[in-house]
Amino acid sequence: MPTVLECPPEPLRVVVSPDGMVDTAAPTLVRRISELEGLYEDGQAWTQLVAAGDPVVYTVQSSPVPEVEHELPLSTTTILPGTCAGEFFMTKGHQHVNPEGEIYLGLSGVGGLLLFDGGTSRWIDMAPGVIGYIPPVWAHRSVNVGTEPYRFLAVYPGRAGHDYQWVLGNGLGLRAFGARSGFELRPQRALR
Ligand SMILES: [Fe+2]
Repeated sequence: MPTVLECPPEPLRVVVSPDGMVDTAAPTLVRRISELEGLYEDGQAWTQLVAAGDPVVYTVQSSPVPEVEHELPLSTTTILPGTCAGEFFMTKGHQHVNPEGEIYLGLSGVGGLLLFDGGTSRWIDMAPGVIGYIPPVWAHRSVNVGTEPYRFLAVYPGRAGHDYQWVLGNGLGLRAFGARSGFELRPQRALR
C-alpha cells in the first residue's frame, strides 16, 4: 500500500527530443489500439488496425508521486497522430472513482479535451499553454486532432482513481472525426 512521500522527488524535466518523445526518468505506460476495444465507433476498422500491427495510440509518463490521498500526482500524455476510420486517436477516457477535479495543460501539438457528465458533453480546444479544467464527476478523454503528437500535462488529486468501465458503458457523448475544416464533433451512436 503506497504512502505519502517523505521528501520531495527529483524534479521532472520534460524534454522534447527530435523524435518527438518526452525524455524523462519517469516510467512510461504504452497504450496500443488493441487496448481501446469497444471505444471506437467502427469496430471493424478497429479490428483491422489491431491485425495490421496494433499501432501505439498514446503513452503516459507518470511522476514518482504516489496516487494516494493528500498527494498530487502528475503525468504527461502523448497522443500520436492518426485515426481509426476517420475517428481521431484518443485516450481511453475515464471517470474519477472519487469526485475530484483535475487540471490539464497543453504542452505541444493540438488536441481537445472532451468532458461528459452523463447528459451534457463539452469540448475544450487544447494547444500549448492552454489550461483545461475538469470538474468533479465529469468523465474526460483527450483527442489528438492534429498531424503532430499532442502532449499535455495532467495534475490530479491522488485519491481520484480511474474508472475506465464508466466510459465503456456511457461513452463521452461526442466523437471527433477528421473533416475538411480540420475536425468535427459528431454525436455518439447508441453504445452496444
Ligand atoms: Fe482524470
